[in-house]
Amino acid sequence: MKIHQIIRFGLVAGAASLLAGCWERPPVDMVQHGYRGTGMAQVYNPRTLAKQADINTVPVALPAAPDEGPKAKDIYKNVQVLGDLSVAQFTRHMASITQWVAPQQGCVYCHNPANFAEDSKYTKVVARRMIQMTQYVNANWTQHVAETGVTCYTCHRGHPNPQDQNGQKAYWYSAGDPAHKGGMLGWRDGQNEPAYSVAKSSLPNDPFSPFLMGSQNIRVQSQHALPMGDNKQNIKNTEWTYGLMIHMSKSLGVNCDYCHNSRAFSSWPQSSPQRVTAWYGIRMARDLNNQFLGPLKPVYDTDDLGPKGDAPKVFCATCHKGAYKPLYGQSMLKDFPELARPTTDGKPLHPLEGEPAAEEKVAALAR
Ligand code: HEC
Ligand code: HEC
Ligand code: HEC
Ligand code: HEC
Repeated sequence: MKIHQIIRFGLVAGAASLLAGCWERPPVDMVQHGYRGTGMAQVYNPRTLAKQADINTVPVALPAAPDEGPKAKDIYKNVQVLGDLSVAQFTRHMASITQWVAPQQGCVYCHNPANFAEDSKYTKVVARRMIQMTQYVNANWTQHVAETGVTCYTCHRGHPNPQDQNGQKAYWYSAGDPAHKGGMLGWRDGQNEPAYSVAKSSLPNDPFSPFLMGSQNIRVQSQHALPMGDNKQNIKNTEWTYGLMIHMSKSLGVNCDYCHNSRAFSSWPQSSPQRVTAWYGIRMARDLNNQFLGPLKPVYDTDDLGPKGDAPKVFCATCHKGAYKPLYGQSMLKDFPELARPTTDGKPLHPLEGEPAAEEKVAALAR
């Protein structure tokens, strides 16, 4: 190759790889979604859907165990949540969570095999809290998860650290201090530090702390012409909002008009019913992060914590993994009624006894 040919080849290859980042190879399918004439359509790529079919296959449930015989709390020493299950049901539950969360590692991922009652492994303490969280979601967040509900498998799918459809981590931490704090470039708020969570866009890399831990308004469009009254929206809020919206679209494998009519993003009457479900989803993720995930911080090893020392937390991708409904709406709950509602009567939801209340821990986290 002569030198000008090499340069030309380099330019063409460079342009092709640039395009490959934002372009899906045809054919793709268009499916009309909104009312006729509103131009609300979804674009599906059949190859992406085929790849996703594998991770969305539900594992076969173990045969149901009899309700008879002694209860787990009568036989075992340290059962705080699932004590009312029969020993047979309890054993089936242990085998199932092993299959869902730690199939490679087995029982020893959570247990010291010399003493199953001991709480010496942090994974067991986290798992107990996860059982309560799962029960809590299914009992209290039906506006989002409906009767379908969730199990450990919804988030874990055979990995102790939840992954998304591309094998990337499906949980988030508060972003660390930006690489270029101050200086000539000023505070960039995590912009132009392309993050996978916001589809490598130039948007802030952590739109989750303000909305999925904090409860800042997710509003861009104001009701007034001038900056007065409720019109407090600034560019930073707007960029956070778009960062979150990109995460939501990507996590569900849909585009913006799955929920919005793009001529009026803020208008609820022109939005689809899915936008209402999404609204509850935002509040649910926030609630879980504040009540369950964030307060687990003292339990984890330090290398499991984020750059700011916070615990891993959930967002839309944790459950959805590229599907409009996790597992395409298949429910596993009917086979695991013990996960459908709280099984510990009268016990507080915070089993980390001696720990400060969730609110105090969250406040400490923000300082
Ligand atoms: C993902 C973590 C995890 C895995 C994996 C796991 N367990 Fe457990 N195990 C727990 C938790 C949490 C408890 C306590 C439940 C409670 O408090 O209601 C528990 C309690 C127990 C107990 C009661 C011990 C006692 O005396 O208090 C037994 C027995 C047990 N598990 C057996 C098993 C077996 C057998 C396996 C493998 C098939 C297994 N577990 C896998 C988390 C796990
Ligand atoms: C809503 C999603 C969700 C559900 C449902 C869920 N988990 Fe988790 N789980 C997470 C996230 C996020 C983490 C943090 C990942 C990490 O530790 O890196 C986690 C962490 C864990 C860990 C610690 C892993 C480690 O090595 O740090 C265990 C054990 C665990 N979960 C068990 C369970 C069990 C058992 C259930 C069902 C009773 C369950 N989880 C249900 C999202 C979920
Ligand atoms: C799964 C549903 C869903 C998808 C997909 C979605 N949004 Fe949203 N969007 C919402 C919800 C719900 C709110 C309101 C959030 C709240 O008030 O808590 C919102 C709010 C907004 C707002 C603020 C509107 C206002 O009142 O100021 C804008 C702008 C926006 N979205 C743009 C987008 C863009 C751009 C995309 C595509 C990249 C997108 N959204 C994808 C559900 C969605
Ligand atoms: C704890 C797991 C979990 C998390 C986290 C979660 N979802 Fe969901 N979501 C579900 C389940 C389960 C369903 C299916 C409910 C049903 O069958 O109707 C669902 C359904 C939906 C739907 C309805 C889809 C349709 O076509 O009817 C939307 C929209 C949605 N979720 C958006 C979101 C957004 C946005 C987030 C993040 C802010 C989110 N979800 C976080 C579990 C979750």
